Amino acid sequence: MAVIASNCPQHRVVVVDINEARIAAWQSDQLPIYEPGLEELVRRVRNKNLFFSTEISRNIAEADIIFVSVNTPTKTFGQGAGRAADLQYWETTARQILENSDSPKVVVEKSTLPVRTAEAMERILRSNGNGHHFEVVSNPEFLAEGTAIRDMQQPDRVLIGGRETPSGQRAVQAIVDIYSQWVPNERIITTNLWSAELSKLVANAFLAQRISSINAISALCEKTEADVTEVAHAIGMDSRIGAKFLRAGVGFGGSCFKKDILNLVYLCEHYGLQEVAAYWEQVVRMNEYQQARFVSNMISSMFNTVAGKRVAIFGAAFKANTSDTRESPALDVCRALLEEHADVVMTDPHALDMARADLGDLAQQVTFEPDPHQAAKGAHALAILTEWPDFAQLDYQALYKSMVKPAFIFDGRNILQHQKLHAIGFNVYAIGKPPLTNFAK
Ligand code: UGA
Repeated sequence: MAVIASNCPQHRVVVVDINEARIAAWQSDQLPIYEPGLEELVRRVRNKNLFFSTEISRNIAEADIIFVSVNTPTKTFGQGAGRAADLQYWETTARQILENSDSPKVVVEKSTLPVRTAEAMERILRSNGNGHHFEVVSNPEFLAEGTAIRDMQQPDRVLIGGRETPSGQRAVQAIVDIYSQWVPNERIITTNLWSAELSKLVANAFLAQRISSINAISALCEKTEADVTEVAHAIGMDSRIGAKFLRAGVGFGGSCFKKDILNLVYLCEHYGLQEVAAYWEQVVRMNEYQQARFVSNMISSMFNTVAGKRVAIFGAAFKANTSDTRESPALDVCRALLEEHADVVMTDPHALDMARADLGDLAQQVTFEPDPHQAAKGAHALAILTEWPDFAQLDYQALYKSMVKPAFIFDGRNILQHQKLHAIGFNVYAIGKPPLTNFAK
């Protein structure tokens, strides 16, 4: 919304939320999330044409267009538990819109939703017969955390789906008019509602599939002495495959990939497409395998036990340049190491607060240390779990000195200079590469 406000000074953008603390944070100097460029952008437009408020009813009444971005977590109960999307917040919001509207409105699905949700929303919005017309449009979000502002400012494409009726097409045009203030027309594509809803799930499924594919190959590389970085480079130069999203690692995290794939799997099962469901589910299973493999590799390399050993986890965020730890592989590795009775210390430049909250009761067993040098002191092993560029710049000679010997590094993101570390004296285990050890043969 900050990007929309900055590109459309003629529009008044109001962000509303029931969470008062969150809204207060958006109005303060301490924004509730870390995202490069966001603070500067919010400062520029806040209180000019971007406002934050908890007055939901009044702002619904005053709006012509409502973007609904409430969360749609995976259901934890009842039918479809563990797979289907929990739509209770979406439905509550639709009812709230209905209750507070005395003029026609365009309602935009921004949250990622199961296919054909728009139909249910239309039914709710048209249920009171107050004569006001609501048009539901799907405008899925494709930005990635850490590059959110750039992705919004220069998107590969903007997708807008709507009904093929005249009023549906007018609603689509209203959203096209917003984006066309800064996005070239050829990058704005319009489709029917169901294609837009489905494309969002499929885009994330394809992206995650590439990661699971290269991670599957990384396991084979470790057995054959091939190097997964070299393999990724070699296949990525085929323009049909392309070079992006082929970084092998400890597995994908984040709030979207797993949730959206499981949602796709549920949808396939719902339509009786068991084989299609099993195909996509395997992308998630491979991701779980990759994380489990990483932990068992740590344990077996460290003489089959990490109990009582200090292990420093470098990185808590699910990727670099974000404070977000949702579904972060770092936290899963942390949980697994705690189960093995390791003494875990975690460091991260921006995500320690969120990691502490996400770990819940387990957080008491973890030491949170913002300084990586302090975290490494007295550790048997370092595990790199987020690709923060800062971690590649550290003085590893000094870290090595302060650690227990033999000292281990498990580079779960392949961001370090492994030969150099090996020369310092570390035993280096990377993803999809032969280990570099200093043990006597
Ligand atoms: C993802 C998609 O990239 C966005 O297009 C989409 O809009 C978003 O989900 C969403 O649905 O909201 P995001 O989860 O923010 O964005 O971050 P990604 O850059 O996709 O990274 C996801 C995970 O995959 C991270 O843990 C990252 O480290 C991992 N990854 C990514 C790899 O392990 N290897 C790669 O080559 C790329």
